[in-house]
Amino acid sequence: MTNVETTDATGLGEIEVGAARINVDDKRMINARADVNQLLPMKYTWAWEKYLAGCNNHWMPTEVAMQADIALWKSKDGLTEDERQMLKRNLGFFATAESLVANNIVLAVYRQITNPECRQYLLRQAFEEAVHTHTFQYICESLGLVEGELFNMYREVPSISDKDAWALKYTQHLEDPDFKTGTPEADTAFLRDLVAFYVIFEGMWFYTGFAQILSLGRRNKMVGIAEQYQYILRDESIHLNFGIDCINQIKIENPHLWTPEFQEEVRGMLKEACELEVKYARDTMPRGMLGLSAQLCEQYMHFITDRRAQQIGLQPIFGETENPFPWMSEAMDLKKEKNFFETRVIEYQSGGALDWD
Ligand SMILES: [Fe+2]
Ligand SMILES: [Fe+2]
Repeated sequence: MTNVETTDATGLGEIEVGAARINVDDKRMINARADVNQLLPMKYTWAWEKYLAGCNNHWMPTEVAMQADIALWKSKDGLTEDERQMLKRNLGFFATAESLVANNIVLAVYRQITNPECRQYLLRQAFEEAVHTHTFQYICESLGLVEGELFNMYREVPSISDKDAWALKYTQHLEDPDFKTGTPEADTAFLRDLVAFYVIFEGMWFYTGFAQILSLGRRNKMVGIAEQYQYILRDESIHLNFGIDCINQIKIENPHLWTPEFQEEVRGMLKEACELEVKYARDTMPRGMLGLSAQLCEQYMHFITDRRAQQIGLQPIFGETENPFPWMSEAMDLKKEKNFFETRVIEYQSGGALDWD
C-alpha cells in the first residue's frame, strides 16, 4: 500500500481509516503528503532538539525579584531623564511585539507548516511568547507604569508603529482564511512571512532593545528587568534559530522558490528592516547613554543584519565585520554568566548547547 495524497494540512480532516503507515520521506515542511498528526517516525531532529531546549529553559517572570528596580524607578535621581525615556519606549515596543509574534505563529505560521515535529516546537514557542507578554504585565504592575501608555505605544510612537506595520503586511496576506500554500506565489509569500517575523522581528529588531536593557543591568540599574531580558534573549535566540532552520529546509525541499530575484528581494527586506531599527535606536536614545550611541547601534545592527543574511545563505549587505558590543555575546551565555544579576529565586536546569547569536 502507498500513502494517499493528502490535502489535509490542518490535521483536523476526516480520518483516513485503513491508510498505510507513514513514510518518513513523505514528511515535508510545507505541502506534505504525510499525516500531520504523526510525530514519529521523526524527520527533523533539529526541531525536536529546540523543543527540548525550550522546555529546559523554562522560567517565569514572577520568579525575578523586583524590589531593587522599584526602589530605583521611584527614587528621584536614580535614573536620568534619558534613561527613563529609553526604558519606557523599550518596554512599550516589547509589550506588544511579543503579542504580534505570538499571533503570527498561532494564526498564520502554524496552519501552513505541515510537519508535526515543527508544530510541536511552535506550540512551545507560542507559550514562551505568552511568558514574555506576561513579563511586561509584571513589569508594568511592579513599577506602577501607566498601562495605556505602555501597551498603546505601538499606536502612538512612530518609530515603533513603523516597524510593526512593516512586519504586519507580510502576515496579513497569510491570515486570510482562503490562503493556502501549494503554488510558487503562495509558498514564496509564506517564506517572506518567515523572514519578516523570525529573521527580522525576532532576529534583528529585538537586539537594540536587548543591548539597551543589558547595558542598564551592567551598570547595576534595573537589574530585575535586565535579568528578565536575559531569559527572553535566551528564548529568542532559539526562536531565531528555529526560523532559520525552517527557511533553509524549505529552500532545500523547494529550490525553485529560491530564485536570484527572490534572494535580492530578501536582501532588500533585510536592508529596509535595518534602516527602521536604526531609526528606532535614534528615537529611543537621541543623545546616547550607557556606553551606547545611535551610531554604535547602527554599526551593531549592520553587523547583525549581515550575520542574518549569511545564516540564510545570502551575501552580506553592509560588510560590517566588527561587533561593537562584544559583551552582548557574554550576556547571552547564561551558563557562563550564571546569576549575572543575582536576583533569581528559583533555578531550572539550563538549556542545551545552542549558539546564542
Ligand atoms: Fe518573545
Ligand atoms: Fe520569540
